[in-house]
Amino acid sequence: MPTTEVTSDAPNPILAEFWVRDAQAIEDDLAALRSAPPVFLAEEESQIPDIIPTGPGGWVITRHADILEASKNPQVFSSAEGITMLDTPMEFAEFFSSMIVMDDPRHARLRKLVSAGFTPRKLNQLIEGVQVQAAQIVDNVIDQGECDFVVDLAARLPLKIVCDLMGIPESEIDTVFDHTNVILGAGDPEYVADVDDAMGAILNAGLGLSGLMTEIAEKKDADSTGATEDDDLTTILVNAEVDGEKLSYADIASFFILLVVAGNETTRNSMAWGLHHLTQNPEQKAIWQADLDGVGPTAVEEIVRIASPVTYMRRTTLEDTHLGGTDIPAGDKVALFYIAANRDEDVFENPYAFDVKRNPNPHVGFGGPGPHFCLGAHLARRQIQVMYSEIFNRMPNIRATSEPDLLSSSFIHGIKHLTARWD
Ligand code: HEM
Repeated sequence: MPTTEVTSDAPNPILAEFWVRDAQAIEDDLAALRSAPPVFLAEEESQIPDIIPTGPGGWVITRHADILEASKNPQVFSSAEGITMLDTPMEFAEFFSSMIVMDDPRHARLRKLVSAGFTPRKLNQLIEGVQVQAAQIVDNVIDQGECDFVVDLAARLPLKIVCDLMGIPESEIDTVFDHTNVILGAGDPEYVADVDDAMGAILNAGLGLSGLMTEIAEKKDADSTGATEDDDLTTILVNAEVDGEKLSYADIASFFILLVVAGNETTRNSMAWGLHHLTQNPEQKAIWQADLDGVGPTAVEEIVRIASPVTYMRRTTLEDTHLGGTDIPAGDKVALFYIAANRDEDVFENPYAFDVKRNPNPHVGFGGPGPHFCLGAHLARRQIQVMYSEIFNRMPNIRATSEPDLLSSSFIHGIKHLTARWD
């Protein structure tokens, strides 16, 4: 049982309210946290204490070096107790999050299997679809001269790509979109009106996704007589075996939930933060536009660094340990704040500057080095680059004309709406 208590009144990034403030205030507070050893801070009060009790809080880790150290030591910093600060019941967490809330060897077995969907060959097949899809998304809005960049442009691509990867039909995409918004945005009243019923809404959304995926997996299982690398990931998974055992439909459905949740909001928010920063730094936009393919790879890394769409991932200590000059007892929650590490003055020159040619750029937006490093990182990079190339080719003077409408969440650094114009 954790024994640590909150003794600090430092600004608290574990709370959603920390993130819906003026950008400069957020940066100042993160810098102050980085300048001191890790602190133990309170967590959000549970809305449903009978099911999820309010926990004691957790250690806030903000320095780049400390995040690398924790990520490289999964035998001490475990993912198996949950990846957000909430102490969600384990069956519930695994239902929603699959291997991301497992430690090795269970995690490694699953990861090996599902990696079949992320080979370079599969990636190239998907990218053809990304290009076609990006062109269609731009076709749909180009005559309007204005749109909600998040809803009309950024959100559509990643969703379609994950659905293509899994073989989900076009007709179900809107349903998948609504369910994922509820799962990740449940703390925000725009997605779940009745905060008291947030957990019910999340469960319903999860059951909706799981039911859909189970139906599709059953059908693909019945129709297929084996799988090749060219098949969709669901067909590969229904035919796959781990240690002589086949994955259940429930395992496949949980993995699908992980993919739609992990692959959508993150890529969408990267693109949206990208437009915000490109608008604020027109000279950087011009540098990228002058050499789309040449500058693309570094520009994409810089977008992911500055956006840090996954604000933090939680770990739980399995033994007494020491991190960032602080003793941390076994059983404590530890929040690895990637977004703070991505502005660490010890690692990044001019960390607040948005520099599309930044190199080197050892950001931890996709996680630190370790077994859970983002499986979809290459796919995400390619999507962001293809989407921006399409946008720049066809709407070269696109710019954000509103301030970001921020998602109320400490886990996802999100923009709900961002008006964009072009002529
Ligand atoms: C810019 C977009 C993205 C960002 C910033 C991002 C970030 C992350 C982060 C921080 C982690 C956890 C790392 C850790 O715990 O050490 C992660 C894991 C993961 N991501 Fe991504 N991600 C992105 C896009 C995607 C996409 C497009 C997919 C798939 C379609 C995806 C699939 C996954 C999966 C399956 C995991 C779990 C890996 C494991 O537990 O072994 N991600 N991602």
